[in-house]
Formats: sequence, structure tokens, C-alpha cells
Amino acid sequence: MSNPFREDLVSRSRPEACTVVIFGATGDLTHRKLIPALYNLAIDGELPTGVKIIGFARRDKSDEVFRDGLKELNREVSRNGHDEEIWGDFENMVEYHQSEFQDADGYRRLAERLDAIDAERGGKGNRLFYIASAPEYFDDVLEHLKSAGLNESRDGCWSRVIVEKPFGVDLASARHLNEVVNQTFEEKDTYRIDHYLGKETAQNIMVLRFANAIFEPLWNSRYIKQVQITCAEHLGMEGGRGGYYDKSGALRDMVQNHLLQLLSLVAMEPPTDLSADGVRDEKVKVIRSLRQWDSPELVEENVVRAQYSAGHVHGKSVVGYREEDRVDPESMTETYVALRCMVDTWRWSGVPFYIRMGKRLPKKATEISVHFRPAPNVLFNATPGETDEGNVLVIRIQPDEGISLRMVSKIPGTTLRLEPVKMDFHYSTSFGKGSPEAYERLLLDAMAGDATLFARRDEVEEAWRFIDHIQRGWHDSGEGDELSMAEFVAGSWGPEEADALLEKDGNSWRRL
Ligand code: BG6
Repeated sequence: MSNPFREDLVSRSRPEACTVVIFGATGDLTHRKLIPALYNLAIDGELPTGVKIIGFARRDKSDEVFRDGLKELNREVSRNGHDEEIWGDFENMVEYHQSEFQDADGYRRLAERLDAIDAERGGKGNRLFYIASAPEYFDDVLEHLKSAGLNESRDGCWSRVIVEKPFGVDLASARHLNEVVNQTFEEKDTYRIDHYLGKETAQNIMVLRFANAIFEPLWNSRYIKQVQITCAEHLGMEGGRGGYYDKSGALRDMVQNHLLQLLSLVAMEPPTDLSADGVRDEKVKVIRSLRQWDSPELVEENVVRAQYSAGHVHGKSVVGYREEDRVDPESMTETYVALRCMVDTWRWSGVPFYIRMGKRLPKKATEISVHFRPAPNVLFNATPGETDEGNVLVIRIQPDEGISLRMVSKIPGTTLRLEPVKMDFHYSTSFGKGSPEAYERLLLDAMAGDATLFARRDEVEEAWRFIDHIQRGWHDSGEGDELSMAEFVAGSWGPEEADALLEKDGNSWRRL
């Protein structure tokens, strides 16, 4: 494969040529996710011809040094492997632009550089600005893009912005950031990225529900008893992550965005069409319908937070959270959270949606399980075996992406004995190829102007409204007190308080 722009591999019409400018280009996200995603799009023949990539960052570097650093990581993480010849073509598209984020002159120079690239390309001035810097620079970048006129769509060309997470730390800061973004770019040109929406299996939730006639008639409180969303990670605070994490915590880091997005896809009504607003109108209604845990008592009753203590993960001994690098030894930041959500709509009345997320759990796995009510227990109640649990539909987001359905079957033999069995669909075996990385799909969608898999302003703000109440409940439970922080041994499945949360409803966590 010497030509990365293979026409024969194109699976949908390619977006127009554009220049992608990445702010924060020396960071981990650029090296581990964004550049490998663009490189893999090139390999798959999906990248528009004439794309240029400019890395904007503060450190002084030449194009060569920048490219070498990118290559090193690409070798390590690229989904389709690393091919020197293809990389050689690919890296010719990549340049480095040194500037402070607050330096107006750096943006004027950037504008000149972009004009020169456009002229070389034959006049098409489409620009995609990707803000992946540290969040404290988001405002600066946006304001300077505006001052340099780079936010304007000119001569039939477009100018769009992708904003990385964290999109604020609470409702007030998210609203402020939304103001700044919307004063700079129109909402239709704003792409708030949530990489979980780009995951293949997350995209498949709508297909599963609305392209198969058998699920939707049962998809309500009459037939569904509970839903669980689990996101387990075995990693802790490697690579100095503690500095960021200790100010964030599991609830803000993953529940506000990724896991509430998954919940909204499971609980939403069918959209009237598949347009970005059609889908997002329905998703936001779900988030808006979440019952608010708006007092310390309600938080205590419905939310469990915890930290890991020293233990063993994958056979290696690991330190407790408070001993981690760059973490306050008296930290009250949760590394684990379990919560009970109630979606107060006609469809979901009385059905608990449980979410749990934790670092330093036994393994990495994200899944959604939909637990159906058991069949009337009149025929087989005297029959040995497990029949009373009901069917469970499991959507495995990662790893081993797929869907399985647990049902009860007769054990072959001359007597009537029952046992649960699994009908299983694996992406890897059914389609014979790996799924693209979430960032591949999302970068391409932003180039193509499709915002369906990006969060809209109101979704982000509604999610923060829900999260803020919980944060307030924890940190301000009266007279400066903090609500309790549970503890669990690293490498176990979380604190017993999380089990008790479900036991109150007569439920228990699914074993992964
Ligand atoms: C990020 C969080 O958004 O998502 C991390 O900041 C988390 O803490 C990561 O580890 C998980 O993403 P994935 O795709 O590996 O599940």
C-alpha cells in the first residue's frame, strides 16, 4: 500500500478538503488518539484528499521533531499497525505551529499560514479547529480565533470547532464556556466531543432498538425491571493523571458525559428522523427527565462514592488512591461512584437505571445490561434450575464488542431441567474486522458537518444540572460536613455500600 488515498476503499462520499488545526498538539490526546485516528483514516482511504494538519502548541519544535514524536506513538498505538511508507506520505501533511495560547500574533501568523495552504490547495478554505489544550486555555483559544477572524465561514467554505472535554466543571462553568463558544462559532459549527458516542457499539444502540421490531414493544417499564450501566477500569492514576483526576473525580470525569450519554441512548424515544437535532432532541429529553437528587438525604440514599485502597490488580500490587502521585493524601475525591437514576417519563416510570464507574476494578469493561421482568412463575416453578431471573440483554461497549441475550433453556435429557443460556453476537466474528476507533468516526463526521454524535449545548447543561446536585449533596451536607466516602480494596468490584444500594430495590449488580 503506497498510496494512502485509495479510492477503492472509500465507503461513503469523502468530505471536502480542509485544514485541521489541533490546539494542544504536544499533548497525550494528540499523540495517542487524534493523529493515529487521522493516520488510520488515511489507510482506510477515508481522509479527504488535500487535508493538512497543523499542530498548534507552546513548545519550540521543528516540523521534523514534531513528526518524529507523533511517529513514535503511532507505531505503538495505531489500530491498523504502522507502515513506514504510508506514514511517509501522511507526515507530509503535518506541520507544527509554535505559539502561546494567549499570543494574538501567533493567531495572525496562523491565519496567514492557513491562507497560504488554501492558495496552494486551489482556494478551498475549510478549517476544523480542534481545541485539545488544557481546559484553562479554552477561552483564550476561542477569543483569539475570533479576533483573527478565523471563526468566520467565508466564500462558501466552512469553519468549525471541536471542543474536547472537560466541558466545564459544573453548570456555571459549562454555561460560561457555551457563551464563549457561541459568541465565536454558530451552534451548527460547534462540535462538543464525547468519544463514547463514536464507539461502534454505542452507535449500535439506536440500530438495535429501532431497526429490529422485537425489542421496542418490550422497551418500557412494563417489561423491563432495571437497567445497569457499568464502566470498569483496571487503571489507576498512571502517568501523572492524579493531578487532573483529584480535581475531577469519577462523577465529573465519566458520568456527566459518557455514561449519561449512554443512558440517554437506551432511554430515548424514537427520533422523528436521524438528523443531528432529531436525535439530540430526544436524548436531551431523557437527561431533563432525570429525577434530581437535590438534597444531601437524597444523595445519601441514591449515590455511593468510594476510593480504592491498596490492593492487587492483574496480579500486581498497587497503592491506594490517597498514596498516588499528585493526589492529596487527604483527598475526598471519588474514584468510584454508583448511582441510582430515575427517568421520570411515561415509558420508564419506576424503572431504576443504575450506573457504576470505577478505577482500579478487576478489569476494563463497559457494558449496558437490560434486565427484563421474569415470566409468570406458574409452569416451571417446581422445576430445578434458574428460571426466576428473567431475560437479560447485554450490550458490550468494550472490549469484545457485541450483544448477548440470556434466556432459559431446557437441559438436554429425559428429565425437565432448566438452565440459563446465552445467545451471543460478537462484532469481531460477525463482521470479520475490527471497529474503527471512536476518534476516527468523530473526526470524519466533523469534517462532513454531521453533529449527530456530538453533544449539544442543552444536553451538556442538563447533565451538569443533575451532577451539580450530587456534588453539592456530597460537599455541603450542612455545616461544612462532607457525606461519607466508602472504601474498597483495589482489584475488587467496589464497596459493599454499592451492593446495598441495589439490594434495597431487590436487585443486584450483574457479574461481569
Ligand atoms: C476519558 C476519561 O474521558 O475516558 C478517563 O477522562 C477514562 O478517565 C477514559 O479512562 C475512558 O475511555 P475509554 O475509551 O478507554 O473507555
